[in-house]
Amino acid sequence: MTHTPVLPDGWTLVALDSVGSTNDEAAQLADGGASEGTVVWAREQQGGRGRRGRRWASPPGNLYSSTILRPDCPAPRAAELGFVAALAVGDLVPASRAIRLKWPNDVLVDGGKIAGILLESAIAQDGRVEHVVAGIGVNVAFAPQLAEMRYPGASLGGTVEAALEGLMRALATRLAQWRRDGFGVIREGWLAQAGPLGAEVDVRLGEGLVSGRFAGLDHEGALLLDTADGPRKIVSGELLGRAA
Ligand code: BTN
Repeated sequence: MTHTPVLPDGWTLVALDSVGSTNDEAAQLADGGASEGTVVWAREQQGGRGRRGRRWASPPGNLYSSTILRPDCPAPRAAELGFVAALAVGDLVPASRAIRLKWPNDVLVDGGKIAGILLESAIAQDGRVEHVVAGIGVNVAFAPQLAEMRYPGASLGGTVEAALEGLMRALATRLAQWRRDGFGVIREGWLAQAGPLGAEVDVRLGEGLVSGRFAGLDHEGALLLDTADGPRKIVSGELLGRAA
């Protein structure tokens, strides 16, 4: 039995059967003044987008959502919301399953990627964030073959409606925590579910690859790596498995 998902108080659902990308729909609504907590949800996407220009396979059965956020913070802090979103996805996963968060925004469950997060921000002329669209795709019914092939997929099970309700409840809670307690608490929560410090990792930077030992996150969410050439701070890239 399907039902209309119930969102947190004050949040608004825009439910669509099919769309190009929910992120594009949400960005348009945000440009038109839609408030924080406007959630665009589609049963399928014809042009689902992933990070680094990849496509996100989006047939019916999985969750495709984009939530408008208005964090009212300087542009560099917008990336903190990716960690907020990753924790919210983790909150959705039953405790019986093993969660591993992978920098910057991936959520692995039982070793497989269960969700993808694509944050897209609009920045005002004064350098503050106008809005952030937090695009979150969760594998509910099945795990599509991933373009990057480095990880197997994983899926949550249950219904898309239940996943959407649970995800938005968790996102609202984590956002409130971020606003109340700041990024430090989010960072601690994220690190507690990330790979162990000291684990050997590879990080993709554009076309290149850097290897080193995972040394945590700095106070802005940059990845800290101990490499053979000394410590490095990586602001933008993608951590690839091995141990973490
Ligand atoms: C990734 O590459 O891991 C991020 C994938 C993000 C996919 C979601 S699905 C809902 C939203 N709409 C999109 O086009 N992409 C995001």
